[in-house]
Amino acid sequence: MISHELAKGINQQMVFELYSAYLYLGLSAALEKMNLPGAAHWMKMQADEEISHANGFYTYLVGQDAEIELETIQKPEISADTPLAVFTAALKHEKLVSKKIDKLAELSVKEHSFATLVFLNTFVTEQVEEERNVQVIIDKLSRIRDNPSALLFIDAELAKRTLSPGTAAV
Ligand SMILES: [Fe+2]
Ligand SMILES: [Fe+2]
Repeated sequence: MISHELAKGINQQMVFELYSAYLYLGLSAALEKMNLPGAAHWMKMQADEEISHANGFYTYLVGQDAEIELETIQKPEISADTPLAVFTAALKHEKLVSKKIDKLAELSVKEHSFATLVFLNTFVTEQVEEERNVQVIIDKLSRIRDNPSALLFIDAELAKRTLSPGTAAV
């Protein structure tokens, strides 16, 4: 059993992961408009991964017999008009997610909910990877500046992304 406060925090994270999926879907659509199908595919995979994260939080709440509250998912504001701006927006968002996951871990420690802490472990370490992956793409996009053939090369590379093996289990 977990406290009401902890359950509320996990529930909010579940909703926030769905918001993340929604944001990435929007970013994917923006990349489609830029005629970058590989980058759009990468971002769509990112959206799918966020849905699996939301499912992970949902399943944990069910397992703890906690209340599930379906809240409104905010409409994402998408203004990025270059691939670099799109991935920069994604990195900014991932940093926010990391902060929220850390806050949840902090709350689980405070409440001595070690089951929750162990559950969150995957997400804490995954955030390091999430930020790093996006940063690598940003570095590449920054380096090529406006070189169209280099951009197409990066796009072809991003097209190869598959869902990470752990995704379904999270
Ligand atoms: Fe996530
Ligand atoms: Fe993420």
